[in-house]
Amino acid sequence: MQPDDGRRRLELERLAAEVLGRAGYEYIETPVFEDTELFARGVGEATDIVQKEMFSFEDKGGRSLTLRPEGTAGVCRAYTEHGMHKLPQPVKLWYRGPFFRHEAPQAGRYRQFNQIGAEALGSDDPTLDAELILLLAALLERAGVRSVRLRLSSLGSPGTRAAYLEALREYLRAHEGELASEVRERIDQNPLRAFDADHEGTRRVMEQAPRLLDRLDPEDADHFARVRELLDEAGLDYEIDTTLVRGLDYYTRTVFEFESEELGAQRGVGGGGRYDLLVEELGGPPTPAVGWAAGVERILLASDWHEQRPAPDVFVVVAKPEARGAAFALVSRLRAAGVRAEMEQAGRSVKGQFKHADRIGAPRVVIVGDEIEIRDMASGAQRGVAGVDEALEAVSS
Ligand code: HAM
Repeated sequence: MQPDDGRRRLELERLAAEVLGRAGYEYIETPVFEDTELFARGVGEATDIVQKEMFSFEDKGGRSLTLRPEGTAGVCRAYTEHGMHKLPQPVKLWYRGPFFRHEAPQAGRYRQFNQIGAEALGSDDPTLDAELILLLAALLERAGVRSVRLRLSSLGSPGTRAAYLEALREYLRAHEGELASEVRERIDQNPLRAFDADHEGTRRVMEQAPRLLDRLDPEDADHFARVRELLDEAGLDYEIDTTLVRGLDYYTRTVFEFESEELGAQRGVGGGGRYDLLVEELGGPPTPAVGWAAGVERILLASDWHEQRPAPDVFVVVAKPEARGAAFALVSRLRAAGVRAEMEQAGRSVKGQFKHADRIGAPRVVIVGDEIEIRDMASGAQRGVAGVDEALEAVSS
């Protein structure tokens, strides 16, 4: 990682803190590793993440631990363990940090990556779904992510989903002869895959296939309609994608994903949804919740701004070796007074030091030698000062 990358990451975090803070989200940190059981139960035993992608290991006591592959399960555990259900609801939290998935690395996909995430726990109000979607849209826009597309759907309840999957399997079996062989082989395991197939015959069959969105319970359908109304009123564009599936099992009702065309194969910049049953599933009280996470590296890949290295307010030139101590004391005092101050620390000649001060954009230079002088870099005007105190005064004003 280069300093430029680091500056962009810090700026993105600052933006997240600002955008989310304004909406009442508070920052939390959860452990980087937790009991394997938490992720296996939280994310879902049958998911690729749990089956193939977790970095799990045993500690000296023989307990199985896992480097967190995502943040939601840990937030739910913390919510229950720290009694956050006793706070005024909803409890709105945001986080950022490293996450780990054992996937084949490629552009935009890493084994260690960073997420910024936000979760609102303790209410099923559709304004929270809409609020979170709008906040992620705002963050991506502020971060300069280009060619963004939002896909939106609702998964309803697990019961509706199970009945739907059975109906879909039946439909696929009835058209088995027209399907690609890899789709046919996965009818039992993963019938939804059929919606993603490129195969011509399969695509024709899928045009008429039953859709989950048409089968939602009335309350789930109302909830989704309300979320959409709120997004429409806010003027946010989205596409309803009835085939949107996310790689985690905990979702109920709203699901969404933001993609950027800039990203190629790994185009998901951020996604999330409602997970009304997860807190309870993990041993907490019944707690509806909704949230998202976005990939920091993908946001930075899909945007092309740069953060300039901030110029110092002043650069201190060491005019002779014996003045090094005095120069050092001066920069320390300047920094304590809130001035962005740097000094020569690489053995440059005096001429080289002025060149360097110019290159890093210092508007003023203090020259510490037999005397102390201050030079204005733009005009070249230079004047002597009586001592360190006067230099400090002149530069911090
Ligand atoms: P996710 O879609 O698995 O959701 O990950 C969120 C984002 O993390 C992705 O959109 C992507 O930008 C980034 N990401 C995931 N894997 C990698 C990787 N290997 N390399 C680089 N970036 C990656 C979740 O993690 C859910 N916890 C989101 C959520 C929060 N749902 C509800 N609340």
